[in-house]
Amino acid sequence: MAIETLDPHDLILFDKTYRERLDIRKNLVKEHPQKIIGITNAADPRVGAAVRELYQSLMGNYLPQRYPTIFESKDSSVRNTVTGESWPTSLTDATTARRALEILPVNVDEDFFILLPDNQGDNKRLAGDEDETTYILEAYSACFPSGFEPQHKLGKRLASIHDPVPGYKERLEKSMDRFFRTLPPGKYVRRVNWAVTVDEELYSNFDKSGNAMTEECKQLGIDDLDLNKTFLRCERQTLHRLPQSNAIVFAFHTYLYPLEQVKAEGLGEELATAIDGLTRGNTPDIFLYKNGPKWAEAVKQYLRS
Ligand code: HEM
Repeated sequence: MAIETLDPHDLILFDKTYRERLDIRKNLVKEHPQKIIGITNAADPRVGAAVRELYQSLMGNYLPQRYPTIFESKDSSVRNTVTGESWPTSLTDATTARRALEILPVNVDEDFFILLPDNQGDNKRLAGDEDETTYILEAYSACFPSGFEPQHKLGKRLASIHDPVPGYKERLEKSMDRFFRTLPPGKYVRRVNWAVTVDEELYSNFDKSGNAMTEECKQLGIDDLDLNKTFLRCERQTLHRLPQSNAIVFAFHTYLYPLEQVKAEGLGEELATAIDGLTRGNTPDIFLYKNGPKWAEAVKQYLRS
């Protein structure tokens, strides 16, 4: 699964793009509220409690403690000194989960997915059988999905969320489900993924996994590459459990590095080798999944030129 332990202090990181990213997020929440925010059932008390617990743990504790110059805590509110706006540090039961999920993306440059255990394992456990609990995506706020549609993942189990991912079922499903069952509160982990994108925005709320798999994509030549739109896109993903609701929070921060910059920093060959590696790994179809046939040759040629 290529995950490593994370220092809880580093759950969320800030960089110089913060202000600009918040502006993009604010517009997206306004323009596409139904796509950016999703909740299976706002009336379900388990879902509301999990969303409020995430909100409170961030706005009431983590952010003002870790970044006191950005999040100034005063009485029961917290002021974001970059935007000048103030927010409550905790939410009453009457505050809708949706409202909490609208506030988070205009304060942190991070996308959040909240998963809760199903209860199907309970009876089996009582009968002494193996714990077969799996996790379901119950709520999210996601401004920068990379080529998938969060709204179509809502209410699904982890395995089904990963349906389009080659090799997931054979190589990852069992260990992921076990990992989710056993991740204790207080333990934080992270993983990083990467892709090359040639024509995408930060907001990539569309399903791109099908294109290359069905051979619909056209192979680009080096002259077709628009370097203003060609990026190495990385996600720093984290996972942790909320102790009261028992929910698991999957969060990610998206980094975009212009390909020109990767090359200028002398990392061109390293990236080209990693692209070659996609076709040789345990799961060569991951190359198709990442739309490799469209961009890989042109990008490698550019990086090695
Ligand atoms: C240890 C945790 C996880 C592992 C090892 C993992 C693994 C993967 C892998 C290998 C991919 C293919 C792209 C890539 O290389 O990253 C992927 C895609 C994806 N993952 Fe995960 N994942 C994890 C957790 C989660 C969680 C908790 C969610 C909950 C929402 C999630 C949602 C997705 C989605 C939406 C995609 C894109 C699927 C598509 O193309 O439709 N992942 N994941």
